[in-house]
Amino acid sequence: MEFQQVVDRRRMVRSYTGEPVDSAVLQRILTNALHAPSAGFTQGWAFLLLDEADAVGRFWACTTDPDDEPDRWLRGMSRAPVIVVPLACKQAYLDRYAEPDKGWIDRDESRWPVPYWDVDTGMAALLMLQTVTDEGLGACFFGVPTERWSAFRSEFGVPETHHPIGAVSIGHRAPTDVAPSLRRGRTPLSDVVHRSRWSG
Ligand SMILES: Cc1cc2nc3c(=O)[nH]c(=O)nc-3n(C[C@H](O)[C@H](O)[C@H](O)COP(=O)(O)O)c2cc1C
Repeated sequence: MEFQQVVDRRRMVRSYTGEPVDSAVLQRILTNALHAPSAGFTQGWAFLLLDEADAVGRFWACTTDPDDEPDRWLRGMSRAPVIVVPLACKQAYLDRYAEPDKGWIDRDESRWPVPYWDVDTGMAALLMLQTVTDEGLGACFFGVPTERWSAFRSEFGVPETHHPIGAVSIGHRAPTDVAPSLRRGRTPLSDVVHRSRWSG
């Protein structure tokens, strides 16, 4: 697929057929994530790959409320055969920037203009989404509520040093999948690009 087609066609898919994802394709999706840029080339990310039905089921069990009846969103999403949880490691950045070429040896968090650990891991997630599109598959990036992090960590043995910036469902798009974002419409370029000076 041409790069522009990947950009144009990528959109979040929230309903899946349940058909498995080829392991070589999964490998490519994850390998491409590692090509994301990272501040100081820290690469302070990790990816929890859940590609077995039991593990995917346990993901949904620990990140959703068992008392809630599954809604349309959850029914569609939980049919995805693969979940990848991109995890960011703040400590890796504090340590990397304390190295001699950076010199922030006090590890003072107020030095950081924005949390680069989340930025970088988000860039890696976008590369996964784009690779999924290039493979003719569907994916959705979605949030993991902070009140579920503790249950998520203990279910999968994720250390406190790493936090999920979200999760990515991956699979074959179901024909019933709808694209709510398309109703809203994309913001025009002229509304968001401010040339030479902030305008409007
Ligand atoms: C940081 C972030 C968090 C998101 N969280 C959710 C979510 O929790 N559930 C969901 O269905 N979609 C989620 N989305 C997907 C957005 O709703 C979607 O990207 C947006 O509506 C634009 O649609 P498109 O990506 O299909 O073009 C999230 C996207 C981002 C970037």
